[in-house]
Amino acid sequence: MSEHSNIQFLFEPRSVAIIGASSSEDKIGYKIQRNIMEGGFRGAIYPINPKGGDILGVPSYPSILDIEGEVDLATIVIPAKFVVRAVEECAQKKVKFLSIITSGFSEVGNWAEERKIVEIAQQNGMRVLGPNIFGIYSAETSLNATFGPSDVKRGGVAIITQSGALGIAMIGKTKIENIGLSAIVSVGNKSDLDEADLLQYLLRDEATKVILMYIEGVKNGERLVEALKQVTKKKPVIAIKSGRSKRGAMAAASHTGSLAGADEIFDAVMKQCGVTRAETLEEALNWCKFLSTSPAPRGENAVIITNGGGIGVLAADACEKYGVNLADDPETMKEIFEEVTPDFGSIKNPVDITGQAMAQDYEICLEAAFKHPAVDSIICLGCETAVLDVERLTESLEKVHREHGASKPAVLSFFGGQDTENSIVHLRGQSVPIFLDVYDAVSCLGAGYRNYRNLKDAQTKVEDVFDPSVVDIERIKGVIAKVRAAGRTFLLAPEAQEVMIAAKMPMPQSKLARNLDEAVQFAEAIGYPVVMKIVSKDIIHKSDAGGVALDLLNKGEVMDAYEAIMHNARAYDPSAVIDGVEVVEMVKSGTETIIGARRDESFGPVVMFGLGGIYVEVMKDIAFRALPLNRAEAMEMIKDIRSYPLLLGVRGEARKDIEGVIECILKVGTILQYCEDITDIEVNPLVAYDQGDGVRAVDVRILLSKSAKGDHHG
Ligand code: ACO
Repeated sequence: MSEHSNIQFLFEPRSVAIIGASSSEDKIGYKIQRNIMEGGFRGAIYPINPKGGDILGVPSYPSILDIEGEVDLATIVIPAKFVVRAVEECAQKKVKFLSIITSGFSEVGNWAEERKIVEIAQQNGMRVLGPNIFGIYSAETSLNATFGPSDVKRGGVAIITQSGALGIAMIGKTKIENIGLSAIVSVGNKSDLDEADLLQYLLRDEATKVILMYIEGVKNGERLVEALKQVTKKKPVIAIKSGRSKRGAMAAASHTGSLAGADEIFDAVMKQCGVTRAETLEEALNWCKFLSTSPAPRGENAVIITNGGGIGVLAADACEKYGVNLADDPETMKEIFEEVTPDFGSIKNPVDITGQAMAQDYEICLEAAFKHPAVDSIICLGCETAVLDVERLTESLEKVHREHGASKPAVLSFFGGQDTENSIVHLRGQSVPIFLDVYDAVSCLGAGYRNYRNLKDAQTKVEDVFDPSVVDIERIKGVIAKVRAAGRTFLLAPEAQEVMIAAKMPMPQSKLARNLDEAVQFAEAIGYPVVMKIVSKDIIHKSDAGGVALDLLNKGEVMDAYEAIMHNARAYDPSAVIDGVEVVEMVKSGTETIIGARRDESFGPVVMFGLGGIYVEVMKDIAFRALPLNRAEAMEMIKDIRSYPLLLGVRGEARKDIEGVIECILKVGTILQYCEDITDIEVNPLVAYDQGDGVRAVDVRILLSKSAKGDHHG
């Protein structure tokens, strides 16, 4: 990266030009300049307007070329038809970053001008944010180059949003929710800069404690995955993606001109990257607020303190749902809570201080939990009762939060009438993480724990990277060249097999017999039982053509089957060119799995895993991951499927050879990653035997792209 295109200048420009600044208060150009000035930006401000004169008391320039000093950021806010010309002038001026507010480009089908803008920028080392955006706010330099609200609350949350209107609304919403922002960036059409570029800055920005991304479509998923994996090792990232439903995806595509990839792939890849996906905006903002203001837990032991059994049970359910582990050592619980709970209460977790509890009881019990090193996090709950003085309770909770809130994470939820609701509003205003609903409270703590585990994994996990040189890519490319020369985009069985052999995939033994004698000779060498299959590029559906014979036990059966297969094939398609009959080792039955690999529009090469038959077809029980993949990620992928226990062995069966499956997933992934011509690989079934007995790739289908691609390495 050159000094010129250092992303820091976008967030921390020393000077900003507004191309389209205006004295008319109703114009966006006016609002942007006003926000920049009212926000307290410390650098130089250059309004650009052909009419000249002062705008908001600042002298304007007829053209950016008239400015003497350097311009780090130019905000363009003039009608679309003038933008390319303005970009050319910015290039001439050697502006570093452009923030193009103007709409009317790829989102309405105007790709030509958008491409032109990016082309000019690339040729001149300029980077482009947008077009079709509301701008950028960056707390570091007090820069509010947006046309959203002028008073942004500072804090630790950075937001990257693809939707402009939603982003502007989020600035307002964060203000009333008392959530502080370190940055908010609108990416719009992502013609050049995208989330991956912005994450590079936010990763290093000390003020940013948590990053929220609102995504409609991913354009360059491979870069995004790389960036996210890096960031989540340091700070939490939360994603909201619209377009989960088919209708939603279509709406998103027309909104920003980008294609939304399959939602399940997005979901899986975010998980792989350590990103937490929120279902709703409210959930996302709750998490952001909590993660940016609460301390991280230091261990897994959470304690619930409640005055009601029912709400305690609800919280225990929520803990299971959101991955919060409850402390369960009775001795420790006794040591902490025996003295501070009423005799008739419970010192098991949930700790029940009973319906008779008063504000004072909460205060004592919470203090004990905060002070004891065996408690890592606290969930404090309550139902409004006749004996509970809500006003007094509010004071107690505020005091405990003020005195101890920075030492360990605690979430609260109280349920009751008007007094309780007023108390919640007041406490939220004081940054106490208190919620009306127990699930909302626990979900925040769950987000804290996901981040805690991500950071812990990053410190302790050794990246067990798969060595791609195990796969003989050159040999596979040789096979592909032959298939191309034959004018096909699919591989015949022996070709697919050669690919598998080049990848050292465990295959059933197989030989291509060109006549009856060879068929017998090969069957004897492989050992009975064997399977025989017709090999012809003209016969794809072999079984339908009567071209497959299973479970052949001896020489006689092989001879009969050979004759029958040849006869059936000729009858099925008299003009078919027949290469011969494949004689294959009959694979013992085992647990059937499927490995797939294909190129996703958003994320590039991805792998898929599932158990065979109904599990994939009916129950859609499959897991995805983006490539490249390490062993730990492949293991996580296998664990993701609901039928995973079948691989661990049920009803006294032995554990299956999961290590063998992982090895095959990594090999199939490597083939797809390094051979650009291949679009699809499906190993179906990959039969897994008991642990130590290995796996067998029984059938493989490989498809090529319509036209040849260039060489690609990694
Ligand atoms: N250089 C400098 N100034 C210029 C130039 C130029 N080449 N050309 C025109 N101007 C001046 C104009 O004279 C005008 O100033 P004036 O008021 O003194 O006359 C000013 O720049 C603005 O130009 P207008 O023609 O008045 O354009 P207007 O402000 O009406 O619209 C805008 C420009 C806002 C960029 C519009 O074209 C547009 O794209 N609007 C949509 C913006 C948007 O929604 N973006 C997505 C945000 S995200 C979301 O969805 C909320």
